[in-house]
Amino acid sequence: MRKILLLGVGALCATVAAVCAQPAEPARKTVVHDPVFSSAQADRGKALYAANCAGCHLAGLDGSANPTANVKGLPLLGPHFVQDFGEAKVSALFNRMQRDMPKDKPGTLSEQQYLDIAAYVLQQNKFPAGAKDLTVDTATDVWIPGAGGAEGLVDYTFVSGVGCLSQDPTRSWMLVKAQGLKQNNPRLIQAEKSNNFTLYNIDLLNAANFHVVYENATGFTAWGVRIKTPATADNTDGIDPSGAVNVTIANSYIMDGDDGIAVKAGSVASKNITIKNDHFYGTHGISVGSETNDGVSNVLMAARRAIQ
Ligand code: HEC
Repeated sequence: MRKILLLGVGALCATVAAVCAQPAEPARKTVVHDPVFSSAQADRGKALYAANCAGCHLAGLDGSANPTANVKGLPLLGPHFVQDFGEAKVSALFNRMQRDMPKDKPGTLSEQQYLDIAAYVLQQNKFPAGAKDLTVDTATDVWIPGAGGAEGLVDYTFVSGVGCLSQDPTRSWMLVKAQGLKQNNPRLIQAEKSNNFTLYNIDLLNAANFHVVYENATGFTAWGVRIKTPATADNTDGIDPSGAVNVTIANSYIMDGDDGIAVKAGSVASKNITIKNDHFYGTHGISVGSETNDGVSNVLMAARRAIQ
């Protein structure tokens, strides 16, 4: 799924008229917090689960998370469930069951029976029941929220403004400079797995940490972004595409106390990056890394100006 966290925003400038993250298309995702199955369906699923699945995944769905000896199935609940199926469509859960389960007799139930069991699994994960049954069609449209909750960011998110996003510099920088303490000061904008994410014509001021991190997705444009944080503020990278594909960072003005732009690839490769016509003041300029484990390729850098 696509996620944005506007972190630690201490103060919005008085002139802000619009700083918005609004989906263009498709329309906002339906997540399973909106009811997508009925309790009658979950009840049917419960009986089917008991007969076909509980032998390995246990009656409480807690599978191998339960210390009971010789448990064969994985937990279908809680953090494990969120880790494996969060930020995926319900159809991913349904398809997995239909294709592979029961492990010893895969695909032996009907489509309707797998849907009923999926409804039961969702219910046991505390998603609300409603009036309608889960169908193959709704399963394809509905997302299971990830650990970050239901309020994820859809693809095609566009963030623009006529003001500025700012944090309280004094407190933030004191934290940055504190000796011997773990830094907990937050990034200003963190966009994860958000395909086609645009930052346009926006001021970002005085971040306590990195200003913008765009991670693990395809299609990022930062155009006309103005970052203004003193060069003395440590660890305040400007714009960091990481595990990012098809990126354009152009016509932007970046002043901060660390990398102006840092292209990273810690666990996913970064490629097809254009950095053009940007102006840097007091930063370390444009960097590749630190993390490059998965490779960075096809990068064009044509900075307009770097002033130390
Ligand atoms: C014979 C034991 C067994 C039975 C019966 C069984 N499962 Fe599984 N299931 C497993 C094992 C083992 C895994 C993990 C390894 C794998 O995926 O092959 C698993 C994995 C899963 C997963 C993926 C979990 C994840 O986190 O990736 C789901 C979902 C699932 N089972 C659902 C079901 C459902 C629904 C049924 C009943 C229709 C069922 N299983 C019956 C053994 C079983």
